[in-house]
Amino acid sequence: MKPLRYSVLLLLFFNSTFLFAQNEKMQWFGDAKLGIFIHWGIYSVDGTDESWAFYNKKVPYPVYMSQLNRWQAENYHPEDWAKLIKQSGAKYTVLTSKHHDGVALWDTKQIPEVANRKSQPLSVVKRAPAKRDLFTPFSEAVRKEGLKLGVYYSILDWSHPDYPGFTKDSSRYQIKSDPVRWERFCTYNRNQLSELMLQQNPDLWWFDGGWEHSAEEWQAPELGKMLRDHNKGVIINGRLPGQGDYDTPEQNFPVQRPKEKYWELCLTTNNNWGYQPKDDHWKSPQEIITIFADVISNGGNLLLDIGPMADGTIPVQQVEILQELGRWNAKHEEAIFSTVGGIGPGHFYGPSTLSKDSTALYLFIPGHASGDIHVRGLKNDVESIEVLGTNVLAKSHVVGKISWSDKPGLLFIDLPKDQVWQDPIMTVLKVKLKGKLNLYNGSGGL
Ligand code: GLC
Repeated sequence: MKPLRYSVLLLLFFNSTFLFAQNEKMQWFGDAKLGIFIHWGIYSVDGTDESWAFYNKKVPYPVYMSQLNRWQAENYHPEDWAKLIKQSGAKYTVLTSKHHDGVALWDTKQIPEVANRKSQPLSVVKRAPAKRDLFTPFSEAVRKEGLKLGVYYSILDWSHPDYPGFTKDSSRYQIKSDPVRWERFCTYNRNQLSELMLQQNPDLWWFDGGWEHSAEEWQAPELGKMLRDHNKGVIINGRLPGQGDYDTPEQNFPVQRPKEKYWELCLTTNNNWGYQPKDDHWKSPQEIITIFADVISNGGNLLLDIGPMADGTIPVQQVEILQELGRWNAKHEEAIFSTVGGIGPGHFYGPSTLSKDSTALYLFIPGHASGDIHVRGLKNDVESIEVLGTNVLAKSHVVGKISWSDKPGLLFIDLPKDQVWQDPIMTVLKVKLKGKLNLYNGSGGL
């Protein structure tokens, strides 16, 4: 064989082996659909913006940091958090181990001020009245509930004396002018990550803050290698430059299916990530479930955020949202988890998903829907249509099928006339197909 052809074959082989391993690794994530994000840090004490409060100079740095001296976490019951997350139907959860303010929730041994050996690590354990590791008990509770654990870690650290960035209009130094100082910061980060990796052994790393430097400056390939050498199945989000397994759009809803195969929308339940008592812009369970259905219809995951209060209490509005999600997820489980994205708006004007073997199509319709709905371009015959979570069957008929044409007609589903079948939030119809999904995608005509 010619050497060129040989190397092309070799390349194809490695490529497909990589894709195979990648798909296998990402499987639990792709099936999980729902994760719960938790932003908990000193910012919950005064209810200010997480880290950004001092960066944007809303609050002077010493005032912001004084929250650390008042963080007690006196009503923190991580087992209850984990139970609530499980009850919501989520399959994984991500907790902030350190936000951009640099305060560690675990017992880190790394000391930011190297010159001052007497100084203590910047952690709740060493510098807050809480005086204990707030991260590890959560990891343990999460594992007990059989959930996957994600560690959020901000690689930028605006508190660290060796980190260049500080506030929006001031910085400490330029990396180029003092590479030794930057290297000291990179070592600090690497050591913290190594502590977390060994202590928590996360299933997923949720990096944040990567935008301030390049992959090379962050030494991202080395960090990625360290984390993957320790756990080759570990998943890394897309915010450690160049290392991501999936994309993380933030707050904005997908109108079209994103390009990345795996993606996750992170979304707040009101307008803030952390606890802010003045923010009452709560999204209703109805709105959240509508967004969630849209996300899974487009083949993604939702990482829904909650922000516990400083004492460890989860705000009642967030508890209600998670409970309502739990009710809805349990009823429609088969249409949500372990499915793949649906048939798209050209075929159905609403969210939809498909069973992995593509013999069942799930249509999501608003709770108050009435009248007829229809599916376009479906070539399959239909075996049955069931309202999920009820015993109700719906009838259907095909409109506009021309006997001599191979183009399919429209499948009209006759929604039952009484209301008993409707879910108060969103109803799911299971359309059992004869054979595997077969769609017509053309523009009509003969
Ligand atoms: C942004 C913010 C941060 C928040 C994160 C969650 O990157 O900097 O405050 O934690 O989004 O996605």
